[in-house]
Amino acid sequence: MRLPGIGGSAFVTGFTSLQLLSAWVSGASPHCPEKLKELSSPNCGDDDPECPLEGPFHTVNQSVDDSFRYIKTSYCPPYDWSCLSNQKGRRPCARRQTFKIPLRPTIARSAVPLGLGWPAGKSSQEKDLTKLPSVGMNQGQPMLGAIGVLVNGVALNGVATKLSEALPSTTKLEGADRWVDAVLAEAWMDDDCLGHLSGGGNYHTHAGRWTTDQREVCGLPRDIPGKHSELLGWAFDGYGLYGPQDVDGQSPQDLDACGGHSGLTAGATASAYHYHMADMYPYALECYKGCPEPSNNFRFKDLPCVQEAPRSGSAEL
Ligand SMILES: *[C@@H]1O[C@H](CO)[C@@H](O)[C@H](O)[C@H]1NC(C)=O
Ligand SMILES: [Zn+2]
Ligand SMILES: [Zn+2]
Repeated sequence: MRLPGIGGSAFVTGFTSLQLLSAWVSGASPHCPEKLKELSSPNCGDDDPECPLEGPFHTVNQSVDDSFRYIKTSYCPPYDWSCLSNQKGRRPCARRQTFKIPLRPTIARSAVPLGLGWPAGKSSQEKDLTKLPSVGMNQGQPMLGAIGVLVNGVALNGVATKLSEALPSTTKLEGADRWVDAVLAEAWMDDDCLGHLSGGGNYHTHAGRWTTDQREVCGLPRDIPGKHSELLGWAFDGYGLYGPQDVDGQSPQDLDACGGHSGLTAGATASAYHYHMADMYPYALECYKGCPEPSNNFRFKDLPCVQEAPRSGSAEL
């Protein structure tokens, strides 16, 4: 999948005909008919109808002007979501939104924290969700809601969740509520593409742990062995989100605390800052290198993000 040229204003769809095809050949029956039956209290209405389970899926439209890339999405995944679970038996509804991705990111004087304040590294193997490593509610200030959007139109949410909101209804919260790793705590809710619903019913994902084969089914580009990963989406500070491979096809060794580095990417001729998604914590972003576009998440309105003095050598994608 190629980026449309900067400055072009043509609307292009965010996924290829190949993905539509694979959805159709998989047939009309949902992957998880039994789980779908459990999603028995749909909350979608006339304004936000239920997301399709089979093709044709909603398209993601992009346009560009001098300042922003506009990603117009319905929030709906372009794939069968019938394997997802949630406490309330909800189904994903189309929630139309246009995210604004700055074309010329502004570097923040100090990085904007989003995660649990943990270094990148191994994920916990703990199976009991109530025993997951955690951060006290008053200690951490993680970002809830969308922090980026993927090329398939699915929202990328921050890495933290409140344990109380992640537990299945059969598991009791012991002790005080706390912040935990959402990828681990909410894995039981995941569909085939690691997506699920928030308490408010917004479809999202937290992780870039798909295999390259899985990505194709999920409306995302495959990686080429030995090459830098493809563009998977954009963080709301304007920097690109890529898969786990650096220019040589290996894991990048020089990621900063936010999960990014400067370098060449697939198809690029100039070095630019970008993020890498990974199998391990923080899976995507621990912090923003740049100031996020405030209109993309109401929680950004109160963020004090001081812009660094502009530098030569733009980080434009
Ligand atoms: C994208 O554009 C197509 C064609 O104009 C339209 O049918 C579709 O609803 C648009 N998608 C979104 C999310 O607005
Ligand atoms: Zn979640
Ligand atoms: Zn890279």
